[in-house]
Amino acid sequence: MRLKALILAGGTGTRLRPLTYAIPKQLVPVANLPILHHVLNLIAAAGIDEIGVITNPETSAQIETSVASWQQGLPAQKVACTFISQPAPLGLAHAVATAKDFIANSPFVMILGDNLINVSLASLIDPFLAQPEQQASLLLKAVEAPERFGVAVLNDNAQVIRLIEKPKVAPSNLALVGIYLFRASIFQAIEHLQPSARGELEITDAIQGLIDANHLVRAQCHDGWWLDTGKKDDLLAANRIVLEELPPASAFYADSVTLDETTLNASVQIGEGSSLKNCHISGPVVIGQHCSLSNVSLGPYTSIGDNATLESCHIEESVLLPGITIAHWPVAIRNSLMGHHVQLIGQNGLQVQGQHSLCLADDSILRWEQAL
Ligand code: TTP
Repeated sequence: MRLKALILAGGTGTRLRPLTYAIPKQLVPVANLPILHHVLNLIAAAGIDEIGVITNPETSAQIETSVASWQQGLPAQKVACTFISQPAPLGLAHAVATAKDFIANSPFVMILGDNLINVSLASLIDPFLAQPEQQASLLLKAVEAPERFGVAVLNDNAQVIRLIEKPKVAPSNLALVGIYLFRASIFQAIEHLQPSARGELEITDAIQGLIDANHLVRAQCHDGWWLDTGKKDDLLAANRIVLEELPPASAFYADSVTLDETTLNASVQIGEGSSLKNCHISGPVVIGQHCSLSNVSLGPYTSIGDNATLESCHIEESVLLPGITIAHWPVAIRNSLMGHHVQLIGQNGLQVQGQHSLCLADDSILRWEQAL
């Protein structure tokens, strides 16, 4: 039976407010690609061609449009995407239960839509499918603060014997990263769940139910990076790590890009139709299409979305969504996350010591007014 994929892209994204008032967190870009597209690429690379996407009623239209644009960009492969609306964010296990009709009797991989991970899904899926008695397989990572996550205890045969969600005292340092393999037996386990203390149906409780019913649950440990983008600083860290994967000391730009009195150091990508005048770019940096930059010092670890207009400013370690205007901002901008069409209007010729670290929702306007 063919394996399906289920992406959890509902939820509320409260920890990434105010940005998530206007945009679901799964669509916030990392290295100028929505997080959800990174997740879809991971699934497509494993050859899976049937994907269910859990959405919430407020953000489903944006998620559907974004997934459609991802599908259009696929070279040859056809991937069918089905959208499943979860009426309220009642927990990961509730989201899985909502997808019962879509999954039917297939084995499936469930992936959190806000996690980035450098793993080959095939290396997890193949051993799972080869051992039909396995009812779940989990990906784990040794972390420094396991109390922040779901934590697993294994026996000597890499079988999971216990799972605890955000324990006060962690019994191991093995955190559950957001990739799980299940069979239809998970639906019965979810049927027996009661909401946890935080009012959610927890996927860890459902898997514990499988273990308690003597089902085989295995785990694999992950050595590479795993990035949960739930908060601003996590998202900026994810942007930094993904940009670090760009080929070193390289500049990629189309013929339509114009560079005038501009230096490009380390890895820099510039989208079609952008122009840079009198700029200093220290990669890794990605700049979108149709951006106009003049007298700008940029990077490292910065992603600039399409249609930005930047003049006389200094930006580092930041993520700017499309359509941003920044002019004559007198202090450096670092560790900042800005939504679509944000405007920062400063004062020509003014230079002030210090820096700004900003998290701004779509359409925010900041105007610099110097006291006389
Ligand atoms: P979380 O980050 O745990 O939850 P959240 O998105 O509600 O964020 P916050 O805690 O900041 O309010 O969710 C992990 C992923 O699972 C994310 O992509 C959203 C998704 N999700 C659902 O699809 N349904 C749900 O009921 C929940 C809780 C999350």
